[in-house]
Amino acid sequence: MTNEFDNSQNEKSLKPNQFKTPQIAIHWATLALVAIVIAIGFGSDLIEARATKHLAMDIHRLLGLIIGLLVLARLAMRLGNRSPDLETPLPLRLAGAASQGAMYLLLVGMPIIGLMQTSAARAHPTLFGVIPLPVLTAHDRDLADSLGEWHERGAWVLIAVIGLHAAAALWHHYGRKDDVLTRMAPWIKTRRA
Ligand code: HEM
Repeated sequence: MTNEFDNSQNEKSLKPNQFKTPQIAIHWATLALVAIVIAIGFGSDLIEARATKHLAMDIHRLLGLIIGLLVLARLAMRLGNRSPDLETPLPLRLAGAASQGAMYLLLVGMPIIGLMQTSAARAHPTLFGVIPLPVLTAHDRDLADSLGEWHERGAWVLIAVIGLHAAAALWHHYGRKDDVLTRMAPWIKTRRA
């Protein structure tokens, strides 16, 4: 069975229980991409020039799809991995699992709803006018509008879940003084006594 946490004593550069480099890279890259995608999604209303708005939304779609793929890669890496041995009490582990489950669901669901919305809004959906996108629904304006509303609600729920997740990580670090944050951010100094 593989282990996504690196407990190897030979790897002097890694702290005990630290995530491996690909997991750390995917985690922080996903956060950066989600911030950009949400900023473009909400900010696109402020762009007046049609061509610029289309370009911004194509970047939004492309980065949104990359997020979906990164999250699937992260899930694949987790498959078969044993759980962390950080001596965290069961209720805290359950709360962590619930918020991570919600985040995975949203990060896979949002790109799918976005793709469906694009399918419903356009007869021949493409990225940048050249890369064809999969057609997931009939071309239907009403459907596009209601999928757009779900996409927007999903974004607000995602923002709330990310906020909770970040607050919990900070509480683990400054309140509980355990390694939950530092094993995903190894450049931060541990506060464990
Ligand atoms: C994690 C991934 C994604 C997040 C967090 C996200 C977030 C958002 C947000 C916050 C908005 C603005 C909502 C509003 O103001 O109504 C939006 C709009 C939109 N998104 Fe996404 N999105 C993601 C992925 C995608 C993907 C993959 C596609 C398509 C391939 C897509 C297509 C759209 C479209 C068509 C709009 C509506 C633009 C408009 O009608 O003004 N999104 N998205």
